[in-house]
Order: sequence, then C-alpha cells, then structure tokens
Amino acid sequence: MALTWTHKDRGEIRVHENLEELSIDLVDYIAEISEASIKEHGAFCIVLSGGSLISFMGKLIEPPYDKIVDWAKWYVFWADERVVAKSHDDSNYKLAKDNLLSKVNVFPRHICSINDTVSVEEAATEYEFAIRQMVRTRTVAASDNSDSPRFDLILLGMGSDGHVASLFPNHPALEMKDDWVTFLTDSPKPPPERITFTLPVINSAANVVVVATGESKANAMHLAIDDLPLPESSLSLPARLVHPSKGNLIWFVDKPAGSKLERFKFSE
Ligand code: 6PG
Repeated sequence: MALTWTHKDRGEIRVHENLEELSIDLVDYIAEISEASIKEHGAFCIVLSGGSLISFMGKLIEPPYDKIVDWAKWYVFWADERVVAKSHDDSNYKLAKDNLLSKVNVFPRHICSINDTVSVEEAATEYEFAIRQMVRTRTVAASDNSDSPRFDLILLGMGSDGHVASLFPNHPALEMKDDWVTFLTDSPKPPPERITFTLPVINSAANVVVVATGESKANAMHLAIDDLPLPESSLSLPARLVHPSKGNLIWFVDKPAGSKLERFKFSE
C-alpha cells in the first residue's frame, strides 16, 4: 500500500512500495482523468515526457485499459522533446510511439509532435503555433486565469538534478513568461538541442503528475517537497516550481526516491 499524504503547498505525495504498485496506480489515475475529461469536454489532452515514465504507462496497452480507454478521444503532446530525427533513439516521440502509441487506437492526426526537419528555434515556434490553433478550435481548453492552454493532464519525469521537462536548474528557460514553448541549444543533459513547455503552461494544466523513482532522485524530492530552511527554500529547483495555479499536483514516487522526505522518514 502506498503511503499517501497531502502537503499544504506541494500537492499529494504517493510513496509506493515498489515499481509494480506505482505503475498500476499511475495507469488507474490516467484512465480516470481520461474518462473525466472526455465526459467534461469530449477529448483528453495528455502531455507526455521522456525517460522511464513511458515504461510505467505500459499497462495501458493491456486489459482492461486497452478496451476501457476511449483512445479515439485522446490528443497527445509532449512536455519536451529532443530535437533529433523522429527515428532517432533519443526521440521522446519514438519512445512513446514504439512502446505505447503504436499499440493503441490513437488517431495519428491527434498526435502533436515536433517537426524534426527544421531548426530547434523553428521547431519550438511551429509546435507552439500548432497548440495555439488547437486552443482556438477548443480541442485544447484555454486557461481562464492566464494566457495558456489548460491541458487535462501533464505527465513529467524528474531528473536527479530536479529538472522537469527540459527546464534545468538555473537555466534562463525557467524565466520564460510569455512563450508557451521555448528552445535550448545548451541542455546540460545531452542532446543539447531541445524544445520545452515553459512553467506557465505546466502550471496552467488541470492535472500535473511528477513521477520519480530510484535513490538518485531522493535529494531532489526532498528539495522539491519539504519545508526547507533558508537559503535552501529559495533554490530555483525546477521541480519545486511546478505548482498548478488551479489544478491538481500528484507525485508518484517509489520508496528509494521518497526516502529523504521528512514525512516518509518519520513514518518508517
Ligand atoms: C531527457 C529525459 C529526462 C527524464 C528525466 C527522468 O529529456 O533527458 O527525458 O528529462 O525525463 O531525467 O528520467 P528517468 O525517469 O528515466 O529517471
């Protein structure tokens, strides 16, 4: 059974016994938000990331999810993408396509990925333009308190440095306020060229999930969640800046990643 609690500012934290339990809980949650979003506005706009997240979504292609999820109503986006060919092993699109999207009935025209034949700057501009069109046609909802899209669910991984999407600690991309999508040519983690959602877009979503597993994430989890003394509390750790203004935030972690959380240490 997961140890679950809600932090007054940092959302709900679910520390799972093991990766199997985390994966079941995650796909249940995705299926639940998918159903609720489709009931509410006829579509489910889900945003994926790279890394191990996709492997934790693997159960979606198995019964009962393969049949109960209304795949035809899914619209798929990415929170960040490495600007490489879509056939390249570094591509987040390829990761999701090979392991999830090619195995379920999501319409190819509902998959909104980057143009891999243009420069990183153009790729960011085109991707943002495509999303703006979808907000205009109401496929993607608009936020009612900011100039941002309101995605139904944004799924993020977290690096051991606390990065989410391709928003890295102390990088100027963290300061972007007006753009929905920005680009990097100097990512500290290779490959260097990436596009990423900005914080205002992440924080305008209806639901945001951060998945973090493994001991290497324990310190970043502590910095992202716990009430910290100064000067630690003023750190601009990207994961700590995830704070949906009118949405839900849930952290799906395993015990090694949660091991430095105050509440978890207290419960052991
Ligand atoms: C990238 C990765 C990265 C990843 C996190 C968490 O673009 O370099 O996709 O952002 O999502 O580092 O990865 P893991 O869950 O695999 O540890």
